[in-house]
Amino acid sequence: MKILVIGSGGREHALAWKLAQSERIQMVYVAPGNGGTAQDGRLENLPLTDPAALLQFALDEHIALTVVGPEIPLAAGIVNLFRDKGLKIFGPTKEAAQLESSKDFAKTFMHRHGIPSAQSQTFSSSIDAHAFIDAQGAPIVIKADGLAAGKGVVVALNLAEAHAAVDMMLSDNKLGDAGARVVIEEFLSGEEASFIVMVDGKNILPLATSQDHKRLLDNDAGPNTGGMGAYSPAPIVTPELHARVMREIIVPTVQGMARDGIVFTGFLYAGLMIDDHGNPKTLEFNCRMGDPETQPIMARLKTDLVGVMEHAVNGTLDAVELEWDRRTALGVVMAAAGYPDTPRKGDVISGIPAETPECVTFHAGTALVDGQLTVAGGRVLCVVGLGDSVKMAQRQAYQALDQIHFDGAQFRRDIGWRALKRHG
Ligand code: AMP
Ligand code: GLY
Repeated sequence: MKILVIGSGGREHALAWKLAQSERIQMVYVAPGNGGTAQDGRLENLPLTDPAALLQFALDEHIALTVVGPEIPLAAGIVNLFRDKGLKIFGPTKEAAQLESSKDFAKTFMHRHGIPSAQSQTFSSSIDAHAFIDAQGAPIVIKADGLAAGKGVVVALNLAEAHAAVDMMLSDNKLGDAGARVVIEEFLSGEEASFIVMVDGKNILPLATSQDHKRLLDNDAGPNTGGMGAYSPAPIVTPELHARVMREIIVPTVQGMARDGIVFTGFLYAGLMIDDHGNPKTLEFNCRMGDPETQPIMARLKTDLVGVMEHAVNGTLDAVELEWDRRTALGVVMAAAGYPDTPRKGDVISGIPAETPECVTFHAGTALVDGQLTVAGGRVLCVVGLGDSVKMAQRQAYQALDQIHFDGAQFRRDIGWRALKRHG
């Protein structure tokens, strides 16, 4: 059987790596892939990103199943395109992907269905937005309505920052159409966790829990990034909290979408804020897996992912029981010099250790140029360690990371600190 994975990040490398472990696989194509997927003999990179070209390839090569990694092709309707031609593809339709591609859609949806999230209002007039901010006070959160590659959320600690964010999005159009409307919402405090499930339209299959680290520097300092590291499981998500998130957030979301006439299929990722009393609220929805959360989650998955995906596209996820490695998996991202604003490309990468049962390195922004592995994007690698405790997983990851070199590499030394505080 041939499978196609769309995307080029660490998330897609991890998904393709896991799919390729299935005995039923003839080939896993990754489009466009990266330097790591290029080096793996069980994977083949395809230099395609255009949806029509991907569709033609899938038809010509009789691709049995396509898995979509990033949000952009989903929001552009690649699932609609493939399904119209009778192809099996796992992901949400363009309509369902609005849960991620429009913050206003997501907020209106959550308010209508009573799903816990921050209070909010949406504005397209900067005058009204400024007046609302003055009336509410700070801290306050300003979000561009559309997809903005991680640059669309400003957590404003004072009024000046809040007004500047509105000016940047609504008056100066710095984010283009994505910032033509803004959602202004209540600031929530607490601890974040990533809650990711698979949905086949009706049945919901939760994946292992995880937590990522959004800030660039140790002690959660510095600018927000796509994620500098993640681990699974997330000890903050106790069995009680897990049940509550399913009951109050995930099930009402899947049922609410169906009631609104938009059947949700694909990965559904609720970004949670859990307050000091253990009450969860939804910060955002993503309609895809997280990056870098996918890397430790896939490192722990024991069940054959191909079989799971088949159930997902056939509407029979209720027949699946996932088996997880009991160990903790902890992934540390190595990013390029200049990340997140102006990542430098071209630095030569050396020293990546061979995969072992305790450690695997997933590639993201890497390219194989004349046989040499070089930096080709902001987040370069995610080094995942596995161990019986968070501490041991952390040690495995950093032992491997310390062997890897490229000029200007940026990484955090404290990935997993919240879990260590709880469990050690
Ligand atoms: P989002 O893309 O909506 O998840 O926002 C990106 C990040 O901004 C989140 O991971 C949080 O760290 C932060 N954030 C978003 N919304 C809020 C909020 N209402 N209160 C506090 N922090 C927030
Ligand atoms: N790690 C956060 C995300 O994938 O959106």
